[in-house]
Amino acid sequence: MKQIVSFDQYRREYERSIQDPEDFWAEVAADYQWSRKWDTVLDWNFTEPSIKWFEGGYCNLAENCLDRHLDKRGEQVAIIWEPNESSEAYRTLTYRELHEQTCRFANVLKKLGVKKGDRVCIYLPMIPEAAVAMLACARIGAIHSVVFAGFSATSLVNRMNDSECSLLITADAVFRGKKKIELKKIADEALEQTPSIKHCIVYNHRNTEINFDEGRDHWWYDLMREESSEHAAEPMEAEAPLFILYTSGSTGKPKGLLHTTGGYMVFAGYTFSNVFNYREEEVFFCTADVGWVTGHTYLVYGPLLNGATTVMFEGIPTYPDHGRFWEVVDKHQVNIFYTAPTAIRSLETYGTEIFQTKKLDSLRILGTVGEPINEEAWQWYHEYVGKKKCPIVDTWWQTETGGILISPIATVTPLKPSFATFPLPGIQPVLLDGSGKEIEGNGVSGYLCLRFPWPGMARTIYSDHTHFRQTYFSAYKGYYFTGDGCKKDEEGYYRITGRIDDVINVSGHRIGTGEIEDVIDEHQVVVESAVVGYPHDIKGQGLYAFVICNETALTDDKLRLEIQSLVAEKIGAFARPDKIQIVPGLPKTRSGKIMRRILRKIAEGDTSNLGDTSTLLDPAIVDRIKESAL
Ligand code: WTA
Repeated sequence: MKQIVSFDQYRREYERSIQDPEDFWAEVAADYQWSRKWDTVLDWNFTEPSIKWFEGGYCNLAENCLDRHLDKRGEQVAIIWEPNESSEAYRTLTYRELHEQTCRFANVLKKLGVKKGDRVCIYLPMIPEAAVAMLACARIGAIHSVVFAGFSATSLVNRMNDSECSLLITADAVFRGKKKIELKKIADEALEQTPSIKHCIVYNHRNTEINFDEGRDHWWYDLMREESSEHAAEPMEAEAPLFILYTSGSTGKPKGLLHTTGGYMVFAGYTFSNVFNYREEEVFFCTADVGWVTGHTYLVYGPLLNGATTVMFEGIPTYPDHGRFWEVVDKHQVNIFYTAPTAIRSLETYGTEIFQTKKLDSLRILGTVGEPINEEAWQWYHEYVGKKKCPIVDTWWQTETGGILISPIATVTPLKPSFATFPLPGIQPVLLDGSGKEIEGNGVSGYLCLRFPWPGMARTIYSDHTHFRQTYFSAYKGYYFTGDGCKKDEEGYYRITGRIDDVINVSGHRIGTGEIEDVIDEHQVVVESAVVGYPHDIKGQGLYAFVICNETALTDDKLRLEIQSLVAEKIGAFARPDKIQIVPGLPKTRSGKIMRRILRKIAEGDTSNLGDTSTLLDPAIVDRIKESAL
């Protein structure tokens, strides 16, 4: 694949990609294997919206990730699996082995009646079988919906029911650090409420005793043993659905963003190769879980499309000690390391002594994703991890965008700490003001939107196209609205400033305030609640809940604990509020709308200037909340 190797070349490629996007992307797409070439490169409008890339073309993503490499690098390692316990042996799968496993599992899925277009839910730990399952779905044209294994039974139920999955793939249990998570138990609870699920495949990962429903459950290995390792990949239309991935929005339940085959493939491959300046035979380590979009695009698909060796790490950065990431880097001679700012900030709190026993000399490129990186964390990462010689790519993108849109190109773009720098070729960002007018020039700030499609973008919200239009294409006519605020400095460098809607970014996890409020409100004594974000040293943002309660015999502390466990049970532990303040009322306008702006200020501890409160129904409530702020 042609790579950008100089900043001048970047500028030229960028210019060309804007002048003639179709020609540009057609050239990129030609690097892949298509069983039939496309008739049209692009057909689009942002009104319906309708976005179609490479129509008439047929390809298979799994074939492009695996079969395409077999002649040249069949014996090269595709996945290095690093277990939770550092003393346990790691596993490797070569491209040939991964291909074989994927084919076998594709045959398993077919045997169980899974057809093209059927939805398959994957609720697995960070084990190679997660990649095998994803690739096997892609291979037969089934749509995978990976659910992060930190989600609760309720979240799993909602996701499986929303897209009417017919099959679930899970494991008995997993350890994350010292904590054991009994996935099958959670799945069993969920499966009581998911009528569309016909089969459940269980991977025996930890030899944990599980409940086994003979009619519904199957052991992974029993099924695999029976099947052949030969399977002809199904030619898929470029716009055939590839996967659904749920993410939080500012309102309502999580949305199942739908990505399609050809465009996603082209975009994942192109961005991986260029942003990370990937070179043959290098080892790439992305610390994200496969349950999030980063795990989809830059742990599995992007690296495999490029014939890379990708590291999949099951554990956590602080187990058995806070040097674990660096131990993994040295052990597997990682060249490119990609993680979240929150991980960097949390490791920073342990000091730098640990680096005395780590070499880290294999590292060439570093990256961050998921939230803005503050300058101090950037410098720490640059100095202690990168030894001041590794460029850091601060990559901005979203579940909706499928891949990176704004980011430095490693070794090419002049860096500026805490700036995502410039749009990649083919990406046309604009800053809009409140009235939807484009703000031109440098030294400006506004709402970040895109005015032209790119191949990796989501095409719809599964079974709710109206919601898709309303959420992303209605705020500003003719634009895709990201929900992020952005500044451009005097030199035109982009700096993403964070969400401007009611989405909170906690440790790089997107959480909708509405979702948490719905759960808190389920508690017997809770009348109403409002959740806002506040700056948090390690997590980036923390969750602050204001809660109105009925008279209760519960102490405030007991109530707080109950609310926290309720959120953990209904959503997942990562969504537990950090602070819960019991309040006598909430600041509401006369029309009943909660003024979140005021709550945000109180949560931030900045109550000196709360702005205009005269439109409140009961302005006095603000002082009462202020008095007992946490
Ligand atoms: C935020 C993760 C600043 C942003 C890939 C976006 C970032 C949301 C960055 C998407 C970055 C992601 N700098 N903010 N480099 N990367 N974000 O869908 O608010 O989990 O809208 O996708 O994360 O989160 P999501």
